[in-house]
Amino acid sequence: MTRETHLTGITTTGSPHLGNYVGAIRPAIAASQQPGIDAYYFLADLHGLIKCQRPELVHQSSLEVAATWLALGLNTDNVVFYRQSDIPEITELCWLLNCVAAKGLMNRAHAYKDAVQNNEAAGEDPDFGVTMGLFSYPVLMTADILMFNGGRVPVGRDQIQHIEMARDIAQRFNHLYGEHFVLPEAVIDNSVAVLQGLDGRKMSKSYGNTIPLFLNEKQLKKHINKIKTNLLEPGEPKDPETSTVFQIWQALAASEQTEYMRGEFANGIAWGEAKKQLFELINNQLAAPRERYNELMESPAFIEKTLREGAEKARDYSRPFMARLRKASGIYGFTE
Ligand code: TRP
Repeated sequence: MTRETHLTGITTTGSPHLGNYVGAIRPAIAASQQPGIDAYYFLADLHGLIKCQRPELVHQSSLEVAATWLALGLNTDNVVFYRQSDIPEITELCWLLNCVAAKGLMNRAHAYKDAVQNNEAAGEDPDFGVTMGLFSYPVLMTADILMFNGGRVPVGRDQIQHIEMARDIAQRFNHLYGEHFVLPEAVIDNSVAVLQGLDGRKMSKSYGNTIPLFLNEKQLKKHINKIKTNLLEPGEPKDPETSTVFQIWQALAASEQTEYMRGEFANGIAWGEAKKQLFELINNQLAAPRERYNELMESPAFIEKTLREGAEKARDYSRPFMARLRKASGIYGFTE
């Protein structure tokens, strides 16, 4: 049986939220339990520096993201789980790739184009506030993927372009230096929900509309009460398809529970009552992981040890592979 490599990273800015859980962490953990899959999951802390230049936040967020994966049941016997910055071969590869990646390709990256458009709209210089980190963000992401020959990369739609860029860069490298890289492929799982946030837009740190994963009960209740609804009164039938309350319910509930809630919407359940039931559903599901999360946050030494072990496993692969890539590109000692 051929083995498949799955690889994904979470950028360490901010606290993980329900959207990360449903859209990325839960399916990744499920995939890691399948036979025949080699899973590489990591904290993208070097990517964190692009968006956040507050050292204490990047640092704290790394700890939170690591504790979140572990609290939600990631089994590090099945998965190579590491911190990007612990693998120096990634930044080294990033340079080799920078030297083959076309600048014109990077000009088309969404994040960079958005920044330019916003600057132009504001009458600023087009590159105002744009760092080389932001500009070459897709090259670092390509290094993450190619370092472990991550063939299949589960991503949200917003990341498809980055995977295409990674393919393009891998192809150029292979063309110049020989067939070293598997061409990566984006895997979009349509059964994985892209959660809506409190305001009905996609749940995202950048919109500030998230429900953080491990809030205490009181805070969780408060956040759920802020989910945007409409003015329909109790007793008036409500449309589940346009409701964020229903959408979050559906992403977490078993199918019978979803059918039950669909019925309640048809019967005109009050928004207050629907939110109360949603709170109970989320709280029941997250109570045990929350307890583990709180314990893990008190044990940074355990998390550090886990990540170091993961980095060792990762480097068993990346060290010899990087040596091969150096050699292929002409960077090696005179007696080798
Ligand atoms: N750019 C991704 C995000 O913001 C995170 C990431 C970094 C990543 N490196 C990656 C995802 C490699 C998949 C593969 O969500």
